[in-house]
Amino acid sequence: MKIGTPKETFAGERRVAMTPDSATALQKLGHTCVVETGAGSEAGFADADYAAAGVEVVKTAAALWKAADVVAKVRAPDATEMKRLREGQTLISFFSPVADEAKMQSAAKKGATVVAMEMIPRISRAQKMDALSSMANIAGYRAVIEAGNNFGRFFTGQITAAGKVPPAKVLVVGAGVAGLAAIGTSTSLGAITYAFDVRPEVAEQVESMGAEFVYLDFEEEQQDGSSSGGYASVSSPEFREAQLAKFRELAPEVDIVITTALIPNREAPELWTEDMVASMKPGSVIVDLAAEKGGNCKLTVADEKIVTENGVTIIGYTDFPSRMATQSSSLYATNIRHLMTDLTPEKDGVIDHNMEDDVIRGATIAHAQEVTFPPPPPKVAAIAAAPKKEAAKELTPEEKRAAETAAFKAQTKNQVTLLAIGGALILLAGLYTPASFMQHFIVFVLSVFIGFQVIWGVAHSLHTPLMAVTNAISSIVILGALIQIGSTSGVITFLSIFGVFMASINIFGGFLVTRRMLAMFQKS
Ligand code: NAI
Repeated sequence: MKIGTPKETFAGERRVAMTPDSATALQKLGHTCVVETGAGSEAGFADADYAAAGVEVVKTAAALWKAADVVAKVRAPDATEMKRLREGQTLISFFSPVADEAKMQSAAKKGATVVAMEMIPRISRAQKMDALSSMANIAGYRAVIEAGNNFGRFFTGQITAAGKVPPAKVLVVGAGVAGLAAIGTSTSLGAITYAFDVRPEVAEQVESMGAEFVYLDFEEEQQDGSSSGGYASVSSPEFREAQLAKFRELAPEVDIVITTALIPNREAPELWTEDMVASMKPGSVIVDLAAEKGGNCKLTVADEKIVTENGVTIIGYTDFPSRMATQSSSLYATNIRHLMTDLTPEKDGVIDHNMEDDVIRGATIAHAQEVTFPPPPPKVAAIAAAPKKEAAKELTPEEKRAAETAAFKAQTKNQVTLLAIGGALILLAGLYTPASFMQHFIVFVLSVFIGFQVIWGVAHSLHTPLMAVTNAISSIVILGALIQIGSTSGVITFLSIFGVFMASINIFGGFLVTRRMLAMFQKS
């Protein structure tokens, strides 16, 4: 199939949906690639770079739309592009199916297939195609850079001969993809960073990035992302009041506020009110990433930077990814390339639009002359889904004490039973096995016990590096191979050498991965 990418027509859009690198990968799937001349120029990719990657460069958008079987672009198609879309053609782009319903109907009527990038479900397998996340990641980073550009002080505290500089205080509201990227950037620049989210399960992530999670003194059932595809749902009015009270307390203290709070398919909730802005210090900066959906601060003007009477700068740009066009084009083009990999399972240049596949089905909004939006909920649970906790029932102190005693008794009974069974089994084994076996067996049982106790105490965020290091340690197998290596049998020697080789990869690889992962948690 021929995959084509036109130059974006939306005013100010600098991104491009195909890069020379992604084109090379697409060609490995058996496809050919074509771009409109100048399509990547504003993102730093010249026509010559595409040509060098084996991409055909055509002169006009009309020629591109005519040549391509699949058109991959960033923004939703404009009216002219909709006219060019034809039967049997596939369009892959951002395409708001609710706001652009008429376009979706028209595409379906024509017999074109439309894959809307924002509809890629938030499940683990689809992360590599999740363009909303890759763009939000850039927006979060850029929000901090933009804030720094408009903030008259350092982020990090300094003690210099010329005086002492206090560190900046940054508050990030909403710790989703953009929020976490903002937190990472802010802490790495040395600011004291606070973060708030309605989903308490993100607290650990926030803290592992060096920021402080702002807890509310409020009891509300934990939000569960599973029913909403990994997103938050609306919180109660009481919760909102507690949240606003906390923000009012923080407003005079913080220098920079980055708001990213969003609930899908809704106007952005108002979280940073006028009185909070008024109580901020002059020179403070607010970056409202939710500007496109009305803003988390009602003073925000979409696509503009304003300065309030008390000297607070409010930035409402809605094109942060486009302001970093090279980076965002690379990531977006990679998202598209991964989607194409799923659409070309045989790597033979033939597209199999499998509507049984959760990801493809979820993102397809028009196919085979039918509107296929909204999709059924994905069969796989969302990434952010936390197991639902039962609502805690209020207990009296007596009931609590009785429950604790009962739990303690049950636990002790279990432990005693397990010990008795274990002891009986060891005795039984001792009667029938040689003494040397028993010695090894007891060491084995003890190491399992100690290993379990040690691993149980490790924080969840460190489980991956822990697995890497245990991987390395598990290569103790190398000892067995070394003992056997001097055997008189050639086969045994060969197998031992092979065992040593494989175990060495495991050992060195395990320690290398651990080092890299632990480095992610260290502040330089
Ligand atoms: P996300 O869904 O991953 O994160 C939103 C977070 O807000 C979630 O963690 C959610 O729990 C939290 N949230 C919802 N209601 C809240 C409340 N009342 N208080 C505190 N937290 C609350 O979304 P993502 O991808 O991080 O995007 C964030 C925002 O950035 C969106 O509004 C998106 O449209 C915007 N965005 C803006 C761009 C720009 O150029 N300005 C570019 C990309 C994204």
